[in-house]
Amino acid sequence: MMDKALNIPPAWERLDFSRLGGILMVLGAPDVGKSTFAQYLYRRICASSAYVAYLDGDPGQSILGPPATLTLALNARGDASFPPQGRIWRSFVGSVSPRGHMLPMLTGAFRLTTAAREDGAQAIIHDTSGFVSPVGGGSNLKLAKIEVLRPTLIFAIQREQELERLLIPLRRSHRVQVIELSSSPAARRRDPATRRGYRTNQFANYFTNSQLLRMNWPRFAIFPGPFFELGHLVALENAAGFTVGLGIVREIDRESKQIEIQTPLTSTNEVDAIRLGNLALDPQTFEGRHLNHGAVPGWT
Ligand SMILES: Nc1ncnc2c1ncn2[C@@H]1O[C@H](COP(=O)(O)OP(=O)(O)OP(=O)(O)O)[C@@H](O)[C@H]1O
Ligand SMILES: [Mg+2]
Repeated sequence: MMDKALNIPPAWERLDFSRLGGILMVLGAPDVGKSTFAQYLYRRICASSAYVAYLDGDPGQSILGPPATLTLALNARGDASFPPQGRIWRSFVGSVSPRGHMLPMLTGAFRLTTAAREDGAQAIIHDTSGFVSPVGGGSNLKLAKIEVLRPTLIFAIQREQELERLLIPLRRSHRVQVIELSSSPAARRRDPATRRGYRTNQFANYFTNSQLLRMNWPRFAIFPGPFFELGHLVALENAAGFTVGLGIVREIDRESKQIEIQTPLTSTNEVDAIRLGNLALDPQTFEGRHLNHGAVPGWT
């Protein structure tokens, strides 16, 4: 993304990156250029030789990991290349939209940023999803994240007035500094089919080198319970709750309590729990469909 003709507005160049630390959150509606700006920020801060983390907080148009997960990756010290080449952690959201999955969005972002801090990250760039609308709770999710993560700085990118509901109270509060930027004229809108195609492709890439793995499910914690369906997308989590691999349920034997899943993971040694999402994937095309809810708004 960064290497395509990048438009760098003068306001970006004027930013002082020398003392930026803590969590730097990039907020904005869909397609305003959040991820492009977040990557610019990441490179500029890495260039000052800091130990920097990038948190991809968008379970739909994921950049660092498969959709339905949040991924945090750290740079290899002194290396500003993107994607980051250092340590990596993932947390499962269970859906490609934050709608109806706000708690795993919040707990995931908290756990990932805590891991980065414990690893010594000096700055964490938090690229967020475009779900900012007050309708459906998008702005409440952002406010809850601000309360929980305590970012040092928010970069708010607006096209028109779409972030005002969020920004009016934040401008008056001293709990966080907000830098307002306008959306670059080079930011392009993507239609629902393009977004869906991107996700399918991301899942296909993730499962490129996968095989079948048999799991005897009573050996594992299962969240929320063993309600497996064929095609179910599940996360295999370690004892800390981080996702070590995703799987697609290919076979269910309810009598012997075994499932066979398709996964790039080669062993269950590290696996402590199986977490079920609300998504099924076609194992041939990797197209997704929602389970339990029928058509869910936001599945675009
Ligand atoms: N400053 C820029 N210069 C050149 N292209 C840009 C710029 N900003 C955004 N774009 C292009 O516009 C499109 C949308 O940008 P981007 O993915 O950064 O938006 P986003 O706000 O992260 O979107 P989403 O809400 O889907 O996560 C991309 O194709 C990107 O390459
Ligand atoms: Mg983005």
